Amino acid sequence: MKSQILTAIEQFQIDTDLGLSSSPAYLRPKYFYDEEGSKIFQEIMNMPEYYLTDAEIEIFELNSKKIIEHISLTYDEILLLELGSGDGIKTEIFIKSCIESQLQLKYIPIDISSDILDELKAKFKINHPEIEIDARVGDYFQVLESLKQESEYKNVPKLVLFLGSNVGNFSNQETNQFIEHLKNILDPKDFFLIGFDLKKSPSVILPAYDDPRGITRRFNFNHLLRINRELNGNFDINKFDHHVSYDPLSGEVKSYLLANTNSTVVIGSIDKVFNFNKWDSIYMECSRKYSISDMEKVASDHGFQVLENYFDRNQYFCNSLWIRK
Ligand code: AVJ
Repeated sequence: MKSQILTAIEQFQIDTDLGLSSSPAYLRPKYFYDEEGSKIFQEIMNMPEYYLTDAEIEIFELNSKKIIEHISLTYDEILLLELGSGDGIKTEIFIKSCIESQLQLKYIPIDISSDILDELKAKFKINHPEIEIDARVGDYFQVLESLKQESEYKNVPKLVLFLGSNVGNFSNQETNQFIEHLKNILDPKDFFLIGFDLKKSPSVILPAYDDPRGITRRFNFNHLLRINRELNGNFDINKFDHHVSYDPLSGEVKSYLLANTNSTVVIGSIDKVFNFNKWDSIYMECSRKYSISDMEKVASDHGFQVLENYFDRNQYFCNSLWIRK
């Protein structure tokens, strides 16, 4: 009998097939981050238009000590678990503060990109050789569930980080499932620090997702090119335009690739043909923006208490510190 556990490539095939067979078509944002996509995302984070990263760096510079104070009230050591760590640039600021405050920690960055975790490990080895790192590649909850089985993780207070507005990619239903699942994995009195991008002027938001140099466009096209590379596809990216919208009611930034002509795409490894008519869309990603009350509702709906909200000087972004009740 065939094993129930799918390889990464099988999962990519299934999700791509499901998404492109749907009407309207969509692709799942987790597949942006192959080696090339992770590099382009680093370029995005360095763009002046992408205010999120600078805002969150400022939040850690201004508030790391305050976050640590909440933890140090009860604990002198902590297991720092990060979901979607990427290269860990923001977390490094927080960890420096922990070292200064003599809060002992072990750092477990979790990411779907093994390349970016290698980069993180190499950087920490040079900058903070004293910090014990146990990087894990995979889906957040698969890793969390497997960590739960390991004895050295039992009875250790945890701080889970979910930064960078990663939660913005989720639908409301996915957010509820995610937070509920996390609550069930955490123990009472564990901490959760989650980054929300806040609702603000569309004139600030839109350029962050549609920059004049076309870096975000390249990020979206890379998803199609990854399908070409890994699933033997033949997308012609010139036949698609990048389009972004912001809905101030729902707070959703949505990005699409729109067919600028009729085309037929063959994806060899799943033996499928997909037809696109002019102005058909592929829904690529949602990047949801929150109000403070949107945020606090998510916490209270799922058994978390908000301890403190931390903002950058522009109040563009919020890192919210929660405790599992
Ligand atoms: C990694 C999901 C936080 O939505 O802002 C940035 C991804 N996509 N530009 C975001 C992204 C296009 C990013 N997150």
